[in-house]
Amino acid sequence: MPIDIAAIAEKDRQSVLHPFTQLKDFASGKSGDPVIVTGGKGIRIQDAHGNQLIDAFAGLYCVNIGYGRSEVADAISKQAHQLAYYHSYAAHTTEGLATLSDRLVKMAPGKMSRVFYGMSGSDANETQAKLVWYYNNLRGLPKKKKIIARERGYHGCSVISGSMTGMSFYHDHMDLPMGLIRHTGAPHYYWGAAPGETEEQFSARRAAELEAMILREDPETVGAFIAEPVLGTGGITPPPAGYWAAIQAVLTKYDVLLIADEVVTGFGRTGAMFGADKYAITPDLITVAKGLTSAYIPLSAAIVSEKICKVIEDGAERVGAFSHGYTYSGHPVGVACANAVLDIVEREDLTGNARETGAYFQAQLQKTFAQLPILGEVRGVGLMAALEFVADRAQKTRFDPALKVGARVSAAARAHGLIARAMPHGDILGFAPPLVTTRDEVDQIVGIAAKAVRQVMDELAREKALA
Ligand SMILES: Cc1ncc(COP(=O)(O)O)c(C=O)c1O
Repeated sequence: MPIDIAAIAEKDRQSVLHPFTQLKDFASGKSGDPVIVTGGKGIRIQDAHGNQLIDAFAGLYCVNIGYGRSEVADAISKQAHQLAYYHSYAAHTTEGLATLSDRLVKMAPGKMSRVFYGMSGSDANETQAKLVWYYNNLRGLPKKKKIIARERGYHGCSVISGSMTGMSFYHDHMDLPMGLIRHTGAPHYYWGAAPGETEEQFSARRAAELEAMILREDPETVGAFIAEPVLGTGGITPPPAGYWAAIQAVLTKYDVLLIADEVVTGFGRTGAMFGADKYAITPDLITVAKGLTSAYIPLSAAIVSEKICKVIEDGAERVGAFSHGYTYSGHPVGVACANAVLDIVEREDLTGNARETGAYFQAQLQKTFAQLPILGEVRGVGLMAALEFVADRAQKTRFDPALKVGARVSAAARAHGLIARAMPHGDILGFAPPLVTTRDEVDQIVGIAAKAVRQVMDELAREKALA
């Protein structure tokens, strides 16, 4: 049955508080109608007008297995019919919960031991902060509570995770960041390197800055460092050579825990199962969400190492029950969904596809864009990539933000049937297509993106905005 598009748009305008939307322009209709999404299959979504769009950002880099996988819908339905809900408090469980947790502990890098579940990447990072504090309280180190995150890092939007996020527009007017959170420099070689500095020298400098911050703050007050293996929302930036080895040496020296935020990189996106596998990172805590269920249902997890579990389990004799939990921790339907999604990830070797089709994708992006006069950097790993536009390549100068170059390229791509995300913090076009993307689909994505970039270059030339 056809839907009444105008009526839905009006209802939505008058009732939904949309994230990351200019509320006044939206409510008044000035910024146009909401996009009513009605379906999805493979790497494409469909809107209410019947337009098909290639989703080269997999929703918000989460629909890793692609849209419309009946196998997962069936697993969700079967579990909802059998047992839609029971909680996991006070040692209640389901078969699916025990199976998924055992699976995650065995899959995850490092020596992991237990899994705590939430519903979003943000709440899982809140849990990580509380685990760091709990662990150090139980070790008799009540001052060791600060958490160092990075500029341009993204860890969510809730109170502590939003504080960990290192982009000021997530803090402004929201009274963030909260105390106890600090930010050190971004691992962004293109923008951060001094003239003539090699990647290794830049990494060593970032590690030295981290060490200086820990010493300045007092090592006895620094509990953890949180980072994404590959910087995501802050610009889709793989780490420079030597970065992770240098950072981990500092953390070990000062007994600072490492939280690997694998919300984007977990379950294959970089071409390894976890970003920590790819970059030889040994985390104490791992955050996962998005790819865990490919977003078919909300589910997140904090995966906790043996080192931490031993302390918190031994401490139970003194402090009693672990007093942290959500109504929906270990929700049976979410868990059934995750098991079905991970079956697909493993059976179809989507990690291998992210590696192989991802290498082709990166090569095509380099070939198509790297020499264009407005391209500062073409970067990425596996099936995540970014084009960063600059006004002057030689001088490395940014475009005037008022020109909105990144947003214009993204809009032009969309008009040609491709969703690629204008990332915050610069003129950056981000790609993170589903991990089922084929070479043929890569060609389509790159072809449309090229058309969009050329179109905006022509516009900028007409506006005399090019160097
Ligand atoms: C690395 C990372 N951590 C945490 C989050 C927050 O996840 P959520 O939006 O599910 O709260 C995100 C979301 O994009 C993310 O990219």
